[in-house]
Amino acid sequence: MSDAPDERPDRHRVFFALWPDDATRAAISRATREAVRLSGGRPIAKERLHITIAFLGELTRAGLEVARSVPPIPSGGPFDFTLDTIGIWPESKTLWFAPAAVPFELGELEAHLWDALVERGFRADERVYRPHVTLARRARPVESAVEPVSFPIRDLALVESFPDGRNVHYEVLERWAL
Ligand code: 2AM
Repeated sequence: MSDAPDERPDRHRVFFALWPDDATRAAISRATREAVRLSGGRPIAKERLHITIAFLGELTRAGLEVARSVPPIPSGGPFDFTLDTIGIWPESKTLWFAPAAVPFELGELEAHLWDALVERGFRADERVYRPHVTLARRARPVESAVEPVSFPIRDLALVESFPDGRNVHYEVLERWAL
């Protein structure tokens, strides 16, 4: 323990996410490697692959504790869905891997989570929810066949993002079983 004052700003960049297990992470990485290479983009490291459900932005420690107190939320239990589509958002040059359509259970989970967040004073993201795994940044469009990957969803994770040189690293703060 140090007596030095903590000089880090009281800012925590946090989001709720679906955090893949090791096998799913490896499968996503394997299935998308060629597309990422062809895109010429800057790959997201395997250990950072995830799907965001609700991005909360920069919170104070107190705000973070409020976010942590929101789950558990109503859910239909664990479910699986399939990532089968690679695409790019040209505005942000983001290469992504996603389900062809938002799975019903995932749409419900996102809606229930935001309902609970809004009740505690968070402001909902007004954009249409497009669940995706970001694969690479500064990418060019690719035409690449991809093996579908099944993504088992067993829990909801609260994750904090820390700056790490030119990158970020993520820390799962807590998980709640669905
Ligand atoms: P992205 O990978 O598509 O950029 C941590 O930054 C996570 O939160 C990433 O999954 C990121 O999505 C997402 N994220 C970052 N800024 C966001 C924003 N303004 N709205 C929604 N999601 C955001």
